[in-house]
Amino acid sequence: MKTAKTVEEVRNLVKHCKAEGKSIGLVPTMGFLHKGHGSLIKKAREENDFVIVSDFVNPIQFGPNEDLESYPRDFDADCKLCESLGADLIFHPEPSEMYQNPHTTVDISLLSDGLCGSKRPGHFKGVCTVVSKLFNISKADRAYFGQKDAQQLAIIKKMVKDLNFDVEVIGCPIVREEDGLAMSSRNTYLNEAERKAALCLSKAIFAGKDAIHKGMKVCELQSLMSRIITCEPMAKIDYLSVVDLENLQPLEEIHEPVLVAMAVYIGKTRLIDNFFYEF
Ligand code: PAF
Repeated sequence: MKTAKTVEEVRNLVKHCKAEGKSIGLVPTMGFLHKGHGSLIKKAREENDFVIVSDFVNPIQFGPNEDLESYPRDFDADCKLCESLGADLIFHPEPSEMYQNPHTTVDISLLSDGLCGSKRPGHFKGVCTVVSKLFNISKADRAYFGQKDAQQLAIIKKMVKDLNFDVEVIGCPIVREEDGLAMSSRNTYLNEAERKAALCLSKAIFAGKDAIHKGMKVCELQSLMSRIITCEPMAKIDYLSVVDLENLQPLEEIHEPVLVAMAVYIGKTRLIDNFFYEF
């Protein structure tokens, strides 16, 4: 497996791949890789000739009071995991390689207003900007994103359609720990008691899914899930929303593909989880 720190290095490798007619799969990450990322890399490996993993903590998607400085990093461990899963290239640029200030940004406000977007202003502008750059740098045929970041996935799909990026965006299922907690690099912030408390998210998710299946209405569903979360004293709901899976607008009745998404603080750590339901 190769490592690249500059755009030029990636471009040269990509040029060779394209000349040989190889397909390219991109897995964009912010590093500190876990099994959830591993599942994306495995899928990319199965479906492409050349697999690029980007490992970049993107500063412009963090708000001023967020965890940019403390965001967990372990590049050596990331390299080992990528190599063991057969990735061909890990792209690990410095922020100065990606951004020269002032720089152009990509913003898709429509789908960014609700859910995490309303709580993290500017976050999705930062995500769309870096992902556009990664698409252009890698010239990927396919790009792989986790469904845990459901709003991010919907926004990237819309951006690709609206801006005619020539890449297929593939969403991959949430990977959970054995006890149900959705895998996330931020789980590492949780102490033992918080780790136990965090199970209220997946408990609410499983109960919510079952309730929708049985025909429960939106407001009852929200109160059922909220009750499960607020039973846990360490948990504070940031949002819990029932929205249309495609346009992310709030639904009053459930009769189309629906996304139930939430962000919950466990102590100081903000965790997200979701499920979607199609009829
Ligand atoms: O999902 C993430 O880890 C990030 O938002 C992404 C897509 C790698 C962009 O920095």
